[in-house]
Amino acid sequence: MLKVGFVGWRGMVGSVLMQRMRDDNDFAGIEPVFFSTSQVGQPGPDVGTPVPALQDATDIASLKALDVIVTCQGGDYTKQVFGPLRAAGWKGDWIDAASTLRMDKDAVLVLDPVNRHVIDQKIGAGANTFVGGNCTVSLMLMGLGGLFEAGMVEWMTSMSYQAASGSGARHMRELLTQMGQLNGSVATELADPASAILDIDRKVTATMRGDDFATQQFGAPLAGSLLPWIDSEMESGQTREEWKAGVEANKILDSQGNPIVIDGLCVRIGAMRSHSQAFTIKLKQDVPLDEIEDRIAKHNDWVKVVANTKEDSIKHLTPAAATGTLTVPVGRLRKLAMGGEYLSAFSVGDQLLWGAAEPLKRMLGILRE
Ligand code: HSE
Repeated sequence: MLKVGFVGWRGMVGSVLMQRMRDDNDFAGIEPVFFSTSQVGQPGPDVGTPVPALQDATDIASLKALDVIVTCQGGDYTKQVFGPLRAAGWKGDWIDAASTLRMDKDAVLVLDPVNRHVIDQKIGAGANTFVGGNCTVSLMLMGLGGLFEAGMVEWMTSMSYQAASGSGARHMRELLTQMGQLNGSVATELADPASAILDIDRKVTATMRGDDFATQQFGAPLAGSLLPWIDSEMESGQTREEWKAGVEANKILDSQGNPIVIDGLCVRIGAMRSHSQAFTIKLKQDVPLDEIEDRIAKHNDWVKVVANTKEDSIKHLTPAAATGTLTVPVGRLRKLAMGGEYLSAFSVGDQLLWGAAEPLKRMLGILRE
């Protein structure tokens, strides 16, 4: 039985992973060991199978006893522990949500509905470090995998509309606090249908610009606004989030030798946990739209093509519809005015599920096969 250690299982991504594993009875047939950086010795969680008391997540000797480590603890933990653990001779499988090791040459980026063949080939060659991709990248490939599989994409832009959860739990709370503050500032006027909308707008704007507005996490108002910058600055002028699209997608697809150019702008919006993306896709050839839809729809069990109508788009192609589900809706599919080789698409996906926890859960499943 595989002895599997879990680190960072209480955080947001870790909690989603635990829930998904409980849902699918994944704890049966493994020997789970739960680790902590702060509550060593306390009882482990109820996962339907007996577990030992929480062990020290920084203790190399305890970690060395494991066959597999699954960590959602974050990049600082990976930086602190991964090197010393490998240096101590540990050859087990490391499954990680953090970005720290993603571009490491020995790390395999895992998104098995898209790159199972790459994962299998790397395992065959001795790989034992597996990392989930950036959420927008994984969601983009889950949605458009059929086009990449068919080798149809010459280049692509991705313009993202990213949810607060991508920044963390505290940011989600701050978004809601901001929404409440805005609403509270005009509650009286809203209750009066005769009040003037421009007065309401003036008050809302003053509130979001005011010193009392909650901006500690985001550094600026998000509710009623947006933030056209995610993550740190790169020399190229891209943000790190934008840079990841091209490098990670090509690594997942194993096309680094002949990379597909993917670039765009990443924007934070006031959604809770589903990221959306608008794509401009330059196809290598003018392929009929019905063939495109067919390839996208058949690529995996979770992508769902949404008809390009208002009714379907606002019902099925939104964060409100996708959140909490594994479905990745793709819609607004049409040829752009630039010509038959230019395709537009819009996709949505829960960034905590396919964007974070699900690829790790499935990687553990692959190791158990
Ligand atoms: N970097 C992403 C975001 C989160 O900020 O939305 C998950 O990769």
